[in-house]
Amino acid sequence: MSARTPPPTTRGVHHALGVLASGTGTILEAIVAAGLPVAVVVVDRPCGAEKRAADAGVAVEVVERRDYSPSFDRAAYTSEVVGVLGRHEVTTVAMAGFGTVLAPAFFAAFPRRVLNTHPALLPAFRGWHAVGDALAAGVTVTGCTVHLATEAVDEGRILAQRPVEVFPADDEAALHERIKSVERALYPDTIRRFMDGQFS
Ligand code: GRF
Repeated sequence: MSARTPPPTTRGVHHALGVLASGTGTILEAIVAAGLPVAVVVVDRPCGAEKRAADAGVAVEVVERRDYSPSFDRAAYTSEVVGVLGRHEVTTVAMAGFGTVLAPAFFAAFPRRVLNTHPALLPAFRGWHAVGDALAAGVTVTGCTVHLATEAVDEGRILAQRPVEVFPADDEAALHERIKSVERALYPDTIRRFMDGQFS
């Protein structure tokens, strides 16, 4: 754990959070700012999340994905990520905009211990283009969902959801930013409650 990582949250049980990210990293930043016990941040490419982790004094490891072709060795890549999380003694994983779908071995290594935040009200608008898809569908309300992540993308038990109104003038960037401002509060709060055992 980094020097700035606060002590584990609950009752003498070892809790260490691993965060997986690929994007600008504002959700990751909110997780760190909330004082959750982040042991390591793993990114799959050089990205804003990597810089935000470093700036916050949190350990960050780049497990760079170099292959985006159909022959991408997902199993080998997954085992590298699992290895890094294991070295940092991670007990719970929070995905925060991670762009690589990991192989089943990842979920087997952290059974029912992987959380995800998704910028739509699941089960509506699964997938990487959730915000644009919601706009294209003409919904007037969308939102965000925190759920247990499983092998099936954007499936798994829903832990928390919040609605976000869609305004007529919204483009994808404006709507996504409004959703993320909600995620930045909801996700850290839900992760904390999860690590405290409130969803068992
Ligand atoms: C969030 O909307 C998250 O739900 C999605 O990716 C976004 C990450 O945002 N999966 P940021 O890179 O942390 O700003």
